[in-house]
Amino acid sequence: MRGGVSGSFKLELLVVFILLLCFQDSSCSAGSLIKDIKEDELLPEISPNAAPQPLLPLFAPSPLAPFTNSTLPKLSGLCTLNFDAVKSMMAVTSIDCVAPFAQYLANVMCCPQLETTLVILIGQSSKKTNMLALNGTLAKHCLSDFQQLLVSQGANDTLQHICSLHPANLTEGSCPVKDVREFETTVDSSSLLAACGKIDLVNECCEQTCQNAISEAAKKLALKAYDLLSMDGSHVLADHTTRVNDCKRIVHRWLASKLDPAGAKDVLRGLSNCKNNKVCPLAFPGMKNITKACGDGMNNQTTCCNTVERYVSHLQRQSFVTNLQALDCAASLGLKLQKANVSKNVYNLCHISLKDFSVQVAPEVSGCLLPSLPSDAILDQSTGISFVCDLNDNIPAPWPSMSQLPASSCNKSVRIPALPAVASGQISKGLNMWSHMLLMASMILGICCISNAAILAY
Ligand SMILES: *[C@@H]1O[C@H](CO)[C@@H](O)[C@H](O)[C@H]1NC(C)=O
Ligand SMILES: *[C@@H]1O[C@H](CO)[C@@H](O)[C@H](O)[C@H]1NC(C)=O
Ligand SMILES: *[C@@H]1O[C@H](CO)[C@@H](O)[C@H](O)[C@H]1NC(C)=O
Ligand SMILES: *[C@@H]1O[C@H](CO)[C@@H](O)[C@H](O)[C@H]1NC(C)=O
Ligand SMILES: *[C@@H]1O[C@H](CO)[C@@H](O)[C@H](O)[C@H]1NC(C)=O
Ligand SMILES: *[C@@H]1O[C@H](CO)[C@@H](O)[C@H](O)[C@H]1NC(C)=O
Ligand SMILES: *[C@@H]1O[C@H](CO)[C@@H](O)[C@H](O)[C@H]1NC(C)=O
Ligand SMILES: *[C@@H]1O[C@H](CO)[C@@H](O)[C@H](O)[C@H]1NC(C)=O
Repeated sequence: MRGGVSGSFKLELLVVFILLLCFQDSSCSAGSLIKDIKEDELLPEISPNAAPQPLLPLFAPSPLAPFTNSTLPKLSGLCTLNFDAVKSMMAVTSIDCVAPFAQYLANVMCCPQLETTLVILIGQSSKKTNMLALNGTLAKHCLSDFQQLLVSQGANDTLQHICSLHPANLTEGSCPVKDVREFETTVDSSSLLAACGKIDLVNECCEQTCQNAISEAAKKLALKAYDLLSMDGSHVLADHTTRVNDCKRIVHRWLASKLDPAGAKDVLRGLSNCKNNKVCPLAFPGMKNITKACGDGMNNQTTCCNTVERYVSHLQRQSFVTNLQALDCAASLGLKLQKANVSKNVYNLCHISLKDFSVQVAPEVSGCLLPSLPSDAILDQSTGISFVCDLNDNIPAPWPSMSQLPASSCNKSVRIPALPAVASGQISKGLNMWSHMLLMASMILGICCISNAAILAY
């Protein structure tokens, strides 16, 4: 993240999309919503005459509960973690991972927030136990309780699948150190705290001051395994890289025990954002269609652009992406196309913009790029779930050059295309997720009327 870019993200007007607008108006029902959505906007599996099977069970046990009263979680009674210390953070996590949207927000919002909450939960609990990890038995109980508590507040109940969450995420893995005192005698804890107690979200991703300090500490912890080895020859060592990575988790938890939960969240979400923004989270399925229609020697622009738009609309069903991720995605797809002999700039030819790589939230507003800095979804009891989209990124997707590495956002001499003033509506391409989401939302909320597709609240 380059100073100028992130700075401008903060200053630009951000627009909040209200995802679920629920007015308790008895004259409105899900039926009227379904009538309002044109058939061609619906996902294939939702045909007007066949009710979508997987959604039906949602009507059963008071599905409104997450937005009004919590359901009662069934806790094991065996977990010793201090859930009270992260109560408000768990509420935020439940909303970031809210049942119908968890999958679309998994990469940028839900899973980073979930992982951060878990780290802080264990870190804060270590203040009493002096342990930065749970044993296997305890990990199972605590993970189950953790999920129960989230689900009772509206989170999706398949988070273990969506975020690859396992009991092992609560243990020490292959890191040989989990005791707080041993940790503090092994690493230079004061310089670690100096580097990571508070990070500059903009500079950290490029300068990596805190990330380097964490790696340094993790390596020191990992080396302790060789002491164990000399004591007990039968000890099988995990691969060194795995061990260092497991120790990084221990370092994160220690940091979370030294900072207050809100400060720890800023640091940890910031660090995961640095990693996230560098990688396009989208998968690019077979590109044969584009190669056929746009490959060298093919000259029918209409056919080519129709194919490109159809392809991009498939991508739009995968995940919300951040501004910087959209740049990564444009570069990845562009390079893949060029390797497959599509040498003309089809982004330019077909007016593909960065927004086209994210989920489309409303036909008249087009794609929602999330800000590159960490953000959370917002729950408002009367309006529902909303989150911030950066509407100013109406930027044409840059076509990458085969001979040059993609421009790094840390390279101060690279200018990412200027952001236009206020983006006006742009015709969304292809199938839009918005109708799908609205439909799901209305099914969950039961009797509820969705009026405006999006509210622009400056
Ligand atoms: C939520 O629960 C409380 C206490 O059980 C009750 O007083 C309140 O009416 C409930 N609210 C709704 C919206 O159901
Ligand atoms: C939870 O997420 C899964 C995977 O995205 C989805 O299939 C399921 O419908 C979601 N559950 C609810 C209750 O929305
Ligand atoms: C759990 O651990 C796995 C494997 O190390 C990792 O891929 C995953 O991201 C972790 N999930 C969370 C929520 O911490
Ligand atoms: C796991 O940890 C708990 C609490 O520290 C302890 O009571 C329990 O005996 C441990 N279980 C095993 C199998 O070590
Ligand atoms: C391009 O293809 C479309 C059908 O896909 C056709 O209608 C049109 O005439 C073609 N244009 C040219 C210039 O060949
Ligand atoms: C490729 O084209 C075929 C036939 O038009 C279509 O069925 C398929 O979904 C397309 N695949 C992609 C990835 O766009
Ligand atoms: C690209 O074109 C070259 C030369 O025309 C050809 O040798 C190569 O097989 C093509 N690659 C693909 C992926 O079609
Ligand atoms: C930064 O970008 C400039 C201009 O694109 C390029 O010449 C230079 O090599 C880049 N520097 C690094 C470290 O990538």
